[in-house]
Amino acid sequence: MTKPRAFVTRRIPDKGLEMARQAADLEIWSDPLPPSYETLLQKVKGQDAVLCLLTDRIDANLMDAIGPQVKVISQMAVGFDNIDIAAATARGIPIGNTPGVLTDTTADFAWALLMAAARRVVEGDKFTRAGEWKTWGPIDFLGPDVTGATLGIVGFGRIGQGLAKRAQGFDMRILYFDRQRNPEAEQKYGAQFVELETLLRESEFVSLHTVLSPETYHLMDDVRLGQMKRSGILINTSRGPVVDPAALYRALSSGTIAYAALDVTEPEPIKLDDPLLSLDNIIIAPHIASASYQTRDKMATMAAANLIAGLNGERLSNCVNPQVYDK
Ligand code: DGY
Repeated sequence: MTKPRAFVTRRIPDKGLEMARQAADLEIWSDPLPPSYETLLQKVKGQDAVLCLLTDRIDANLMDAIGPQVKVISQMAVGFDNIDIAAATARGIPIGNTPGVLTDTTADFAWALLMAAARRVVEGDKFTRAGEWKTWGPIDFLGPDVTGATLGIVGFGRIGQGLAKRAQGFDMRILYFDRQRNPEAEQKYGAQFVELETLLRESEFVSLHTVLSPETYHLMDDVRLGQMKRSGILINTSRGPVVDPAALYRALSSGTIAYAALDVTEPEPIKLDDPLLSLDNIIIAPHIASASYQTRDKMATMAAANLIAGLNGERLSNCVNPQVYDK
C-alpha cells in the first residue's frame, strides 16, 4: 500500500522524523532557512499532511493550495499565531500544536533573561572581552536584587505559572494579570491578581506570557511602558509584537524603564539597523527559549504524533481547533 505524503517545512529533530516516516513518505525542506511563502505554496500542493513551524505563514490561500485531500497540519510549537485557525476550521482541517512539553524549558529561559538583565551578565561579558576590566569596581555594574523583589507576570498560563514557581524560591512578591483569575494557581504560587496598571506600577520585573492576538498586539506601548517603574525591567518570551519596538526604544533610551530582555522581536529576525540594537540596556536572544535537547525532541515527537493521528483519521491528542470534530 502506498504511504500518504507529508511535507515537513524544515529539518526537525531526528526522533520526530523517524516517527513520522513510519506513517508517511516525507519530503523535507532541508535548507537552514524557511521556504519562502511562494515556495511553500508549490511544495505543499497535493500533500496529505504538512508539518510546519512558527516561521511558516499558513493562511487560507495556502490551505487551498494543499488541496481538499489534506488531513492534518501539525505545528511543532505551542504558539500558532502564524496559522489562520478560522480558515482551517472552516475547511475541516485539524491543527496540531505542542503544548506542555516546553513549559519548564521556556520558564527556565525567561528566568535566565531576568537574572541576566538584573545582574548585567551580557554587558559584563562584553566588557571583559573588550579588555576594559582593569580592577574590581565598588560602583561598577550595579543592578537590582532579584531576591525579595516584586515580579509582575502578564499572562498566567502554564509558562507564567512556571515563572511564578521559580520566583517563589527567590522570596519574590508575585503579582499577575490575566483575562481570568485563577484562584487555584494564586494559592499554589502565592500570587496576587491585580489590574495591569497596578502590576506595571508596582513590579521591579515585568514578564510577558500572553498569546499574540488582536487584544495583545503592542500591549506594551508608550502608555504601558510609561506606567512601569523607572528602575523596571521588561522580559518578553511570548511573541515579539506584544511589545511595540519603537515605544520600547523610546522607553529604554529616555530612562522611562531601566532594561529589557527579549527572546522574541518584531520582526523576526530583528533587522540589523533596528535602533534597539544600538542600546546597552537590552538583551536580545534569537527566539531560543524552548531550545533544550530534550524539549526539542519532545516537541518533534509530539508534532509527529499529531501528524500520524491526523493521517489515520484519528483525533489529534493536541488539537487547536477541536471544533473540526463537531462537524
Ligand atoms: C512556541 O512553541 O510557540 C515557541 O515560541 C517556540 O518553541
